[in-house]
Amino acid sequence: MKFDSPATTNPIDRLKVVGQPIHRIDGQLKTTGRAMYAYEWHDPMIPYAYGYPVCSAIAKGVVKSIDASAAKKAPGVAAVVTTLDDGNLGKGKFNTVKLFGGDQIRHYHQAIAVVVAETFEQARAAAALVQVDYVEDKGVYDLKEAMKTAVMPDKSKKPDSGVGDFDTAFRTAPVTIDETYTTPDQSHAMMEPHASIAAWDGDEVTLWTSSQMIDWWRSDLATTLGVEKEKIHLMSPFIGGGFGGKLYLRADAVLAALGARAARRPVKVALPRPLMINNTTHRPATIQRIRIGAERDGKIVAIAHESWNGDQSGGRLEEAVGQTRLLYAGANRMTAMRLATLDLPEGNDMRAPGEAPGMMALEIAIDEVAEKLGMDPVSFRIANDTQVDPEKPERPFSQRDLVGCLKLGAERFGWSNRPEVGSRREGKWMIGMGIAAAFRNNLVLPSGARVILDKDGVVTVETDMTDIGTGSYTIIAQTAAEMMGLGIDKVAVKLGDSRFPVSSGSGGQFGANSSTSGVYAACIKLREAIAQKLGFNSEDTIFDNGEVRSGNRSVPLAQAAGPEGLVGEDTMEWGDLTKTHQQSTFGAHFVEVGVDAATGETRIRRMLAVCAAGRILNPITARSQVIGAMTMGAGGALSEELAVDTRRGFFVNHDLAGYEVPVHADIPRQEVIFMEETDPMSSPMKAKGVGELGICGVSAAIANALYNATGIRVRDYPIMLDKLIEGLPDVA
Ligand code: MOS
Repeated sequence: MKFDSPATTNPIDRLKVVGQPIHRIDGQLKTTGRAMYAYEWHDPMIPYAYGYPVCSAIAKGVVKSIDASAAKKAPGVAAVVTTLDDGNLGKGKFNTVKLFGGDQIRHYHQAIAVVVAETFEQARAAAALVQVDYVEDKGVYDLKEAMKTAVMPDKSKKPDSGVGDFDTAFRTAPVTIDETYTTPDQSHAMMEPHASIAAWDGDEVTLWTSSQMIDWWRSDLATTLGVEKEKIHLMSPFIGGGFGGKLYLRADAVLAALGARAARRPVKVALPRPLMINNTTHRPATIQRIRIGAERDGKIVAIAHESWNGDQSGGRLEEAVGQTRLLYAGANRMTAMRLATLDLPEGNDMRAPGEAPGMMALEIAIDEVAEKLGMDPVSFRIANDTQVDPEKPERPFSQRDLVGCLKLGAERFGWSNRPEVGSRREGKWMIGMGIAAAFRNNLVLPSGARVILDKDGVVTVETDMTDIGTGSYTIIAQTAAEMMGLGIDKVAVKLGDSRFPVSSGSGGQFGANSSTSGVYAACIKLREAIAQKLGFNSEDTIFDNGEVRSGNRSVPLAQAAGPEGLVGEDTMEWGDLTKTHQQSTFGAHFVEVGVDAATGETRIRRMLAVCAAGRILNPITARSQVIGAMTMGAGGALSEELAVDTRRGFFVNHDLAGYEVPVHADIPRQEVIFMEETDPMSSPMKAKGVGELGICGVSAAIANALYNATGIRVRDYPIMLDKLIEGLPDVA
């Protein structure tokens, strides 16, 4: 099915199941420990061995030799595979650096060997006996230095944009700001480490792994191993978080496959937490300069956003300026991005890639201009709203209710009680309130599914879609139930298996809308098959209450299926509606903080997000996505930073003791309000994603609240004590 004209009324609009607050259908499996994660596929009949990775101790250079003789003789060892033995592996399309790269070392903790043994402990002990000789090269690890020689990358995406005459408009604007903001390298730090089990059967291999994108992984594993894609089978039914870190094939899968081939038995490999951060990808640090010029009445007349980030040679821009091109009106505008070559681990997508760090900077800048104008920051944003793409006024937003989110949020949060800067005290606590806009684009990817109606009237959905903790199982079940006129208890959902139709996968907040649209398309096929079998006219056939009806005939679905059952399969493809209309999601974040006037300790006291994101398929799972993203944004504002050792080229705090993500005690009561909205341009589901909307802007709302509390404007994330302490009133 191709979605190329706006959706009209369809069975989803009944909202008997879709849109209802249904608890996760996989929740019980998870809370009782019966959901099998990658490392847990444990069959007592299978003699698993355990692989432990050996990773590079230098960041850049060449492996001269690897002496694995002691490791091979160590107790329990079944095989050792080194990158020098198996150095001709390929590189997946989505990997910047080879995951097992021959003698070339491109970053710290790049995998160079795997030791396979009877037990995990034996593998780990033997891995410590592997002796490696390196020739170390000098690398570049400091973004501030490297940005001086940063370039415009030679890629299809245009890194620069411009409309009108920014320079003149900025020079002549009565009120201006010109500030630089920085965001640090960040880690996905998902709960479940990267892990894979590989088992070969002749020249075919099956992997139980933890992947957001089954089909991308399958292709890239084929390229890496030099095995035909059809001979690779991937299973990833449960995933303990990904946040972008599991979008692309990683070393655990490659090491498990190589280890299992060498040891001739199934092998389990998990990346130990201290190896994860430098072995895998991260969100790259940015340096961003923002210039804004406004008239005294509060209209923006000039806006410019430039961003620098670093990555491995051949790597990618962190698109931090993208939202500035679309969020606010203003006749004269420019954006630019430059990429520096760094020899740090590969930078890559992390929840709202580009948009999250871009909004961390832009939404402080907007607060700064509002203050200079003497305007309320909510009013300033409303005054500069646009309903069209500011670069292409003929291109409207399909839906855009940023203003509604700001107004409702202001009312619910009690924004009118916001104190004057630095004026409110409750004992030692300085209290402040801040806001920021949330804004994230709505992407779609083709998504396929198969739906099977059996003789018992149960519909089973099969798609290689993943559930990374987001609720895919549940919203897919809701979609199939609604389409087939069934209760959710009559629907079974099977995900994350490469034998099923290729789906959108989970990423870029495209998963919910894309994958349910694929299920919608497959259900249309199944409905047609049922109608045809019964000799009904499919135009006036109604599926409701477990029955299929046409005119005065009605047949229970179970009976319609017959003993053989019926199948519908299709893929949702997308036409030009994302080109003719800018499709995005919007929101407003409101935050109240308290800052200890003597120590700078910061406590978030209240958070509210109001979101306008099309139809909300399930308010429970959607809310969960938004509060999770707000929590991640709290980490980004206050604590998360990978510390770079600029001499040796690695992230020093490479575990969860050193890389501080928020814990329950850091997070207050969070509220989320969804605006009533349906977007017929987005899909037959009329839905959009929210998983990344929630992180866009929230860190800036916290930074702005900190400023309101203290009068200290911090432009370098994370905002830790050292950046506040000198400006605090109670510091002698
Ligand atoms: Mo997301 S960074 O596309 O998982």
